Amino acid sequence: MSSDYLAILVNKSTPLPSDYVPSDLVPVNIPFAYIGDDQRNYLREPAARALEEMFQAARLNGLDPIGVSGFRSYERQKNIYEQNVAVKGEAYTSLYSAKPGQSEHQTGLAIDISSPAVFSALSTDFAETAEGKWLRDNAYKYGFILRYPSEKENITGYAYEPWHFRYVGKELAQYIEKEGITLEEYNQRLAL
Ligand code: DAL
Ligand code: ZN
Repeated sequence: MSSDYLAILVNKSTPLPSDYVPSDLVPVNIPFAYIGDDQRNYLREPAARALEEMFQAARLNGLDPIGVSGFRSYERQKNIYEQNVAVKGEAYTSLYSAKPGQSEHQTGLAIDISSPAVFSALSTDFAETAEGKWLRDNAYKYGFILRYPSEKENITGYAYEPWHFRYVGKELAQYIEKEGITLEEYNQRLAL
């Protein structure tokens, strides 16, 4: 399977090649926490256009979502992971931060979103904000899934992350939402 596949499964047991960089990264035209031209404000083209559409709809509903972290290279993920291990230890880090090669952010299809109500923090408090609730209920309409739900930690390998959304395309996002499954469970069904 090509690493460019829009429904690609990337997790602790199915990593990306260390040299994988998407060929269609583009800047996303939404408000970001980091002001400036940086790869964290980039996504793959189809995900970027869908995210712009989703943010427009959220804003029409009076909400104010903020993009925090989109694309991350293998090297950047390595730095983040190593820094987290140094500060918080390996056990805690493994619940929240992917090892290099194991992060969906390297696909250019994942985006961390927050809100001014929590000062753009990536914390579980985001789930209680109007932005967090709206995204949880509506992201699938734009092709995004909440990738690490609270009740699925033993399947995804990560703790609840109400801020991390993954683009998979509208058709698959609707199926995953309707079935209440994760990308891991979808792949298990494909393998049957
Ligand atoms: N926080 C997610 C698991 C990542 O580091 O990709
Ligand atoms: Zn994330």
